[in-house]
Amino acid sequence: MKYTRSIWTFTPESRKKIGHPAPFPEELVYRLIKFYSYQDNIVLDMFAGSGTVGVVAKKLGRKFILIDNCKEYCKIAEDRLGNTIPLERRKA
Ligand SMILES: C[S@@+](CC[C@H](N)C(=O)[O-])C[C@H]1O[C@@H](n2cnc3c(N)ncnc32)[C@H](O)[C@@H]1O
Repeated sequence: MKYTRSIWTFTPESRKKIGHPAPFPEELVYRLIKFYSYQDNIVLDMFAGSGTVGVVAKKLGRKFILIDNCKEYCKIAEDRLGNTIPLERRKA
């Protein structure tokens, strides 16, 4: 029920840890993907930065397309995605 309230609060993501100046908190992306997509849907982030949307989409079993015009951020996103394991596979 708390997800349906009009104001959400999150702890900000650490820019130092991620290496991007404005990473989304994973929890924000998690709630939006859960609300607005189903398993096997494709999630598109055209301003992907460090790839948080892709990381959470992968964890939740969604396909995803990430776009960013900065090579450095694309590399950060690729590295994060390489270290991300889908939640379903973790349980097995
Ligand atoms: C606010 S950041 C996104 C941060 C991301 N949500 C995350 O969690 O790391 C916006 C991103 O848009 C990218 N960007 C800006 N203009 C763009 C463009 N024309 N095409 C693609 N990416 C662009 C920037 O390089 C920046 O990484």
